Amino acid sequence: MQEIGRSHWGSRAGFIFAAAGSAVGLGNIWRFPYMTGEHGGSIFVLVYLLAVAFLGLPIIIAEVLLGKTTQRNPVGAFKTAAGEKSPWQIVGFIGILAAFVILSYYSVVAGWSLGFIYKSIAGVFEPGHSMEEVKKIFTSLTSSPSHQIFYHGIFTAVVIAIVAAGVQKGIQRWNEILMPALLFILIGLIAYSFTLPGAMPGIKFMLQPDFAKLTGASVLAAIGQCFFSLSLGMGAMITYGSYLKQHDHRASGSAGWVVSMDTGIALLAGFAVFPIVFSFGQEPAQGPGLVFVSLPAAFLQMPGGTWVATAFFILLFVAALTSAISLLEVITAYFSDEHNMPRHLGAAMFGFICFLTGIGVTYSSGYFDFLDKLASNYLLPLGAVSISLFVGWRLNKEIIKSDFEGTFYAKTFNVWLWCIRIISPVLVIIVFLNALGLF
Ligand code: TRP
Repeated sequence: MQEIGRSHWGSRAGFIFAAAGSAVGLGNIWRFPYMTGEHGGSIFVLVYLLAVAFLGLPIIIAEVLLGKTTQRNPVGAFKTAAGEKSPWQIVGFIGILAAFVILSYYSVVAGWSLGFIYKSIAGVFEPGHSMEEVKKIFTSLTSSPSHQIFYHGIFTAVVIAIVAAGVQKGIQRWNEILMPALLFILIGLIAYSFTLPGAMPGIKFMLQPDFAKLTGASVLAAIGQCFFSLSLGMGAMITYGSYLKQHDHRASGSAGWVVSMDTGIALLAGFAVFPIVFSFGQEPAQGPGLVFVSLPAAFLQMPGGTWVATAFFILLFVAALTSAISLLEVITAYFSDEHNMPRHLGAAMFGFICFLTGIGVTYSSGYFDFLDKLASNYLLPLGAVSISLFVGWRLNKEIIKSDFEGTFYAKTFNVWLWCIRIISPVLVIIVFLNALGLF
């Protein structure tokens, strides 16, 4: 179809790294631990892993294949596959809306990591500072709209600059260096965490499920976390898949890699955070401040804390950056493909709108909660179910099947197909209705 003129990934690894860059972000290191803390620990982890296996994996494959076959942005993908006037394109629009919503508060949180980089370099983790002081960094940052707007603005400007330039290659290369660095530092943190007195309770919190804590709302939260973390349900993976060449095979296998990396990093973050939380007598269910309070407590105690803290927050910033890029990229790709809007104009304009919406978040945590729930618990699952059904029932089966051929995944084609046709959508809908209290 429209292969000519559209830019494509340089290699299979290039796609894997970019998609993993989108998936691995604040969702893994910031959101996963605090969600786990709020929803009863290991039971949440267990449901999350089931959601990744039965919803995340099949649906990410569906998204990537939809992008690959249509070579278009989320709205265009539905137009190409279902017809210019088809109502299916609404799903694409819901995705664009979700991108706006998520980017607005995502970049505020990413801004926090900038604030912490500054504090680390300024020496707050040097011996001689008190635990109280370190715990207060987060509360004073989040109670100051002006500081948050400042960092949020810097972060958004960087995202805009990168998306405007369209430097997929630069990002790709960064990802290839910085992802392993992030992994390395997380493993180092775990090694440290495990020497602490609270290591055992922390590990148990991650591993020993307490089924009494299982509720409809926490299952929905786990599903929302699964979609959020894998960047699913709003077309980010459609867009990245559309930069594959149509005859590239094994996209499904690549998606499998992305899922493993993303899930692995989330679990590592959990294992790093909870031993620290229990060692320093903190509350696991404290919400969005969790990593920004617990990890600093550990940085203060460890030798060379300043360096570890600085490195950690820089990596967190970069992980957030590669994810935020994919969010703005979805919006920009839509306006550039469908409305011929120049890339730099689209990136600047819509990045700025997200900046403005994000300002509200710096004033009110209720607003943050609202945007986060709206996106993760409603828009993403809704988008994911629709994409799943569409790819399962409407996309040409032979074309998608060819992607699986000649690979380890070939035998699983039918399993996958029934997952996206029936199992995944039904599961999401049941949980959704249950959490809404409808049965
Ligand atoms: N997955 C990213 C994270 O875990 C966030 C993100 C980027 C995202 N693109 C997305 C979430 C698209 C949902 C949809 O931090």
